Amino acid sequence: MAEELRVVLRNYGKINPLNIDDYINAGGYKSLEKARSMSQMDVIQEVKKSGLRGRGGAGFNAGQKWMFAYQAQADQKYVICNADEGEPGTYKDRIIMESDPHSVLEGMAICGYAIGANKGYIYCRGEYPYVVDILNTAIAQAKAKGVLGEFDIEVRMGAGAYVCGEETALIESIEGSRGEPRYKPPFPPVSGLWGKPSIVNNVETFANIAIILEKGADWYASLGAPSYPGTKVLTLTGDVVNKKFIEVPTNTTIREVVYGFGGGIPGGKKFKAVQIGGTSGGFIPESLLDTPIDFDSMAAIGATLGSGAVLVMDETRDIVDVVERIAKFFEHESCGKCAPCREGTMRMYKLMSKVNKGQGTAKDVALMERLGRVMSVACLCGLGQAAPTPVLTTIKHFRADYDAKLQ
Ligand code: NAI
Repeated sequence: MAEELRVVLRNYGKINPLNIDDYINAGGYKSLEKARSMSQMDVIQEVKKSGLRGRGGAGFNAGQKWMFAYQAQADQKYVICNADEGEPGTYKDRIIMESDPHSVLEGMAICGYAIGANKGYIYCRGEYPYVVDILNTAIAQAKAKGVLGEFDIEVRMGAGAYVCGEETALIESIEGSRGEPRYKPPFPPVSGLWGKPSIVNNVETFANIAIILEKGADWYASLGAPSYPGTKVLTLTGDVVNKKFIEVPTNTTIREVVYGFGGGIPGGKKFKAVQIGGTSGGFIPESLLDTPIDFDSMAAIGATLGSGAVLVMDETRDIVDVVERIAKFFEHESCGKCAPCREGTMRMYKLMSKVNKGQGTAKDVALMERLGRVMSVACLCGLGQAAPTPVLTTIKHFRADYDAKLQ
């Protein structure tokens, strides 16, 4: 039986998050001190060597991203923590920030030192006002103790737009503009907040940094799957006995997550599907349950690890109905800036509704597949690109459910 491995959540339940001394007594802020005794390049190389990849969903090598910002010439640079955790079914960043806010601040400050930035922002979703209070308390305590040195951190609140989790829409929002994604390139590490080099990393990514410097890149690289080392915090929801969060090495299989940690399906019912990565994640059938949860293994089966939401569905769930609701979500959350997403999410929802109502034909399903493929490459940002994933993966793996509803 696989076991949890608490790296990111190493202090969960062990320290008082509102008392900086607890964090310091647990070894906190030593890594920042260590980083400052190293050259900026050595810090970046250590993070790069650890193999840490972005935990917001895109899986980009964190050290490589820092390198871009380090190399960019500018009078001002920024570190931004993406805490706009808007993916339905995901609450892992909340758990991290609530239980150990200083681990996030320390990771940001290390990044600031490495790239040469003295200002950081945490963009926290507006639905987490109590988390904002915790963060502000932690920042005030860190400033009072002087542990952050010249590095300043400010919290900004989102206002409920899912698209603001996309890094450039988030940057627009901090700048006071409407939250709409920018064209990339230039990527934020080169030109981000107010046109300055900016690192946008997820909460969980930053929470990994201090321990990587403490225990070393080789230690971290040896955990979990070699191509996506470390652990992943997952949130288990839906038709599963144990609805909870877990932190597991990245070579853990989906079956171990659902049946081991999750305790299987309640009420003696059979498994139908699991959707990983929130609404934008792919649906996974029984036959693929032995896939490890790491980024590349998931991508190889056409699914996404995303933010780590795990939604389990039993045999009584109507897959087509679930996907119609998801299509409605994307239609609502599309910011409307680019046509493939603005029109695509709307058309996709209409087609899904038609099929779900029993008024669709095989032609409509084929059209949804074509539309989905176009959206996944033509949409401006991750929202539109990922929006068709639930449709495409269910047509692929649960075609009989669609056929049963066709005219
Ligand atoms: P991306 O792959 O374009 O970029 C990833 C990161 O690497 C970004 O910070 C980007 O600035 C940086 N980057 C990439 N190429 C670069 C280059 N040449 N130079 C400098 N920096 C570079 O992915 P993106 O748009 O950030 O996110 C899309 C992903 O987000 C999707 O794969 C999806 O899985 C995930 N997603 C996550 C959601 C969530 O709630 N966590 C919701 C929807 C999608």
